Amino acid sequence: MLKRLLLYLSTATWARNVMTKWGVARRVARRFVAGEMLDEAVQATKELNDKGILVTLDYLGESVAAAKDTEEVVSTYQAVLDRIHKDGLNASVSVKLTHLGLDISEELCVNNVRHILTRAKQHNIPVTIDMESTAHTDTTLRIYRTMRDEYEFNNVGTVIQAYLYRTEKDMADLASENAHIRLCKGAYLEPADLAFPQKADTDQNYVKVMTQYLRANTNAYLCIATHDEAMIVAAEKLIKEERIAPDRFEFQMLYGVRSNRQEVLAKDYKMRVYVPFGEAWYPYFVRRLAERPANLWFFMKSFFRTA
Ligand code: FDA
Repeated sequence: MLKRLLLYLSTATWARNVMTKWGVARRVARRFVAGEMLDEAVQATKELNDKGILVTLDYLGESVAAAKDTEEVVSTYQAVLDRIHKDGLNASVSVKLTHLGLDISEELCVNNVRHILTRAKQHNIPVTIDMESTAHTDTTLRIYRTMRDEYEFNNVGTVIQAYLYRTEKDMADLASENAHIRLCKGAYLEPADLAFPQKADTDQNYVKVMTQYLRANTNAYLCIATHDEAMIVAAEKLIKEERIAPDRFEFQMLYGVRSNRQEVLAKDYKMRVYVPFGEAWYPYFVRRLAERPANLWFFMKSFFRTA
């Protein structure tokens, strides 16, 4: 119930207007967001890289409604890519299609993604297209495949969500295409006819499709994106027992979540942390609150302490 309420609030404009005015919300959000400026994200990246942890940088924003506003998003991503190259950072980037104009027109979005992928390719930097709500699943997969097959970008990957019923079929197709996929549980409010309502079913599906993907006799690459110890233990068991080659997978977690575990995993495996930065932190932050009630209590305590 609480999770659904928070996921609703993550998309509500009135709630965003109220929350973003609170200094305390901004301070608590800093636990999950590297900062508002690129320099702060670069600093966080350097600190993680020093610990042997790779990074994927995300410029926060989604659901952009004016074509003009996407120009700034593209130029910021280009600046991020130039900075990764110049500073020799061990980092990729992650993008959201609705940040790049998908709600305005698919053509605009495709052009914007191409600009980013072109610069990324010049610097040999991978780009992951995040997955948003089910309103965008088909389009996201279509744009991912267009970039990979039609425009021949070999530096692009995308994301699949284990909570969707369609995922097993999508993952089977993507394995046969040697796709670079981040597998996560899924972070949006979805109806019961599209996504498992029960966490236990999502968890079971996660392990099932992860296993099928890693067992597939292909060069498909899997980013195991989770903080859930049960998922990590299942992945490690599979990797060890079936001698999955290190060039077939990596682990991924979010900035500010289970940092100690990130460091431990980085000793044995490729480990990448998703580092978001920018001013549009509200929906990202509220999705993080929804994932773990303890984060919400932490937020409430901080609020009442400073109120
Ligand atoms: P689960 O939610 O079951 O949590 C398991 C345990 O992990 C919790 O009990 C807690 O200990 C810890 N934990 C989880 N979340 C926490 C948090 N916010 N704060 C503190 N502890 C927490 N989703 C999506 O729909 N599209 C996308 O593109 C992405 N991209 C993405 C990239 C990366 C690198 C990650 C790690 C995750 C995503 N996600 C995502 C989010 C994902 O779908 C999911 O919502 C979260 O990862 C939480 O799910 P877990 O697998 O961690 O398990």
